[in-house]
Amino acid sequence: MSHASPTTPAPEQTVDQRVADLLGRMTLIEKIGQMNQLNSDGPAVLDQLRHPIQAGHVGSVLNEVDVVLVNELQRIAVEESRLGIPLLIGRDVIHGFNTVMPIPLGQAATWNPAIVREGARVAALEAASSGVNWTFAPMMDLTRDPRWGRIAEGFGEDAHLASEMAVAMVRGFQGNNLADAGSIAACAKHFAAYGAVESGRDYATTNISEYELRNYYLRPFKAAIDAGVSTLMASFSDVNGVPATGNEFLMRKVLREEWAFEGFVVSDWDSVRQLIIHGLSEDDRDAALAAVTAGVNMEMVGQSYIHHLPALVEEGLVAEAMIDELVASILRVKFQLGLFENAYTNPSDLPPAGNPQALDTVRQAALQSVVLLKNEGRLLPLSPDKLNSVALIGPLADAPYEQLGTWIFDGNAQWSVTPRRALEERLDGQVEVHYVRAMDTSRSRVSPTFDDAVRAASEADVAILFLGEESILSGEAHSRANIDLPGDQAELVRRIRATGRPVIAVIQAGRALTLTNIVDEVDALLFAWHPGTMGGPAIADLLLGVDSPSGKLPVTFPRMVGQIPIYYNQKNTGKPPSHDTIVHIDDIDPFAPQTSLGMTAFHLDAGYTPLFPFGFGLSYGEFHYDNMRVATPEVPLGESLRASVELTNRGAVAAEEVVQLYVRDLVGNVTRPIKELKGFRRVRLAPGETTVVEFVVHTDELAFYDRHMRRVTEPGKFHVWIGGDSDTQLRADFRVVDILTDDQKP
Ligand code: BGC
Repeated sequence: MSHASPTTPAPEQTVDQRVADLLGRMTLIEKIGQMNQLNSDGPAVLDQLRHPIQAGHVGSVLNEVDVVLVNELQRIAVEESRLGIPLLIGRDVIHGFNTVMPIPLGQAATWNPAIVREGARVAALEAASSGVNWTFAPMMDLTRDPRWGRIAEGFGEDAHLASEMAVAMVRGFQGNNLADAGSIAACAKHFAAYGAVESGRDYATTNISEYELRNYYLRPFKAAIDAGVSTLMASFSDVNGVPATGNEFLMRKVLREEWAFEGFVVSDWDSVRQLIIHGLSEDDRDAALAAVTAGVNMEMVGQSYIHHLPALVEEGLVAEAMIDELVASILRVKFQLGLFENAYTNPSDLPPAGNPQALDTVRQAALQSVVLLKNEGRLLPLSPDKLNSVALIGPLADAPYEQLGTWIFDGNAQWSVTPRRALEERLDGQVEVHYVRAMDTSRSRVSPTFDDAVRAASEADVAILFLGEESILSGEAHSRANIDLPGDQAELVRRIRATGRPVIAVIQAGRALTLTNIVDEVDALLFAWHPGTMGGPAIADLLLGVDSPSGKLPVTFPRMVGQIPIYYNQKNTGKPPSHDTIVHIDDIDPFAPQTSLGMTAFHLDAGYTPLFPFGFGLSYGEFHYDNMRVATPEVPLGESLRASVELTNRGAVAAEEVVQLYVRDLVGNVTRPIKELKGFRRVRLAPGETTVVEFVVHTDELAFYDRHMRRVTEPGKFHVWIGGDSDTQLRADFRVVDILTDDQKP
């Protein structure tokens, strides 16, 4: 096959000029080829894809991570296709590649964008060594529903926290320059509002008002775009009657017209053809037309584009100019990645996977992600000097694969250090450690091994239970309707409790769980999410007080499933509940007459509060918040609120606290949430140390979409709170004022 090297530019050409130049020389089928992404089925990939790549019918391949094969695919594209256009190699690098970070929900619990960024960098470097140049991450779907299995992959329920985390992850993957070795293109997904699926059932329908879309679900996407994310992925779900993959409002109006996004959108796996199954399109051709018209640049796997777009263009149903525009965005990313200069990967140019620095990053992240939910009588930290023996019990004490969590295609479970291994190492020669797994999986039922566990606990000074969900219980298509601890774990807890020994529960899970039935049965409770490769050492350090827990919940923990959706930034309603309205169904007089007086928004059998609020997490330090001040009681539009608090660690150990700032806009053109996170800061304090934590919040950050869908900051009265969780009562007030400019003055 003849091939010129027409893509070698004059060095002074800009990316846009190079794109235009290349596009000008492409045939229609070569353009449409760039919009086609095919899956690698493994070693047969070369046989399967050689001809389509040579013919210029493939723009991207996903799921090939053998660097030799990837280099060969690139060679075929660069040397054997007419125009030599290199390939995008996509992969789900969601929370690590070979070395695994905590699941993204756990990363959000760190409230530390710096560690999230570092973790994404580690993942990018390892993935890039395999020839991957594009990850399908970060997933930034907000959700208020822990039943949804994909809650594990995102950053929780809050738009501000998720935006900060999404931006950090994008920066970690993409580095300072996409063309640098070890930088890979990121993909903000799933656009949009996938996390609102009804009853948390994956792929189900979403119905979301435009108010809620703009004020909530879309915010992390906007933040990621402002941070330069290269690509977006369309969601699988039906959004207000139009599946996202065919949704012009989302992808043309919001994304392109309003946000001026210049990167490209990839469909989700076969989601173009699923438009037929949804009932939006009649056949493949109709589906291709709908998706391309809506603005999906690249089709993942389905091939309706490559099969039908040429005819759709020839028949005039799709303008070639539209194809040009969609293809230009794909080519732009390829140029930005430097693929035209060098499409090949030499792993020895990059650090080896699993190096000490990578392991240290993921250990730090795990350490900061663990949330201490209960610590009765300050049972934790344990001091080995005062112990003779401990019993380690449960299905997740020594489960190297399970602690990695969902989406770890390339994760190396052999590198996992489990809590059992870490504790045995730490306590070796000092404290006797007796391990009883008790349950094969988290779903196992009562069995005679429960008796072994009870015996081990009775003979120990303390029982540490490693409970939760194994990794397959969360993630894509793994939603649950009951989010209690699975199997007979609660029964195991009760039996261990009955021994009278102190009980510590360490829970690993991919979501918030309803812990109501065990929380009173344990003395201490650590929630560790799926903590990744170095989960064990992190958990051991926290149990033994080498470090203090400092994670804070990125999601509200309900008391029971019937409360869902329950979230901190709810509306006030016309009949807000208060601390006096906690009523239990058992307390109700069955003969009481119905009345419309004194009624508020609560459940008879659950009250209105969660089990643990958003932002919550205890520490071995003792943090006190005093002297909250607002330096700017009046904030002119265009200027900033300055609010501060004095934070003291009155405890005996150094610890980190995540200080959080919330506001409420009291009156609006549309009603506003009762609290909204607007800032947070991780602070480390030595015992006895005090510091002043100051927040600066620009009035633009107080803006919202009003009933006319205008983004405005309205002058008026606000509350502001600072504290250690969303339930903080430490409050002050300020006003946003409209200062008229000289020429506006009467
Ligand atoms: C998921 C995406 C993922 C894609 C490719 C889909 O099923 O929804 O998040 O990136 O598969 O693996």
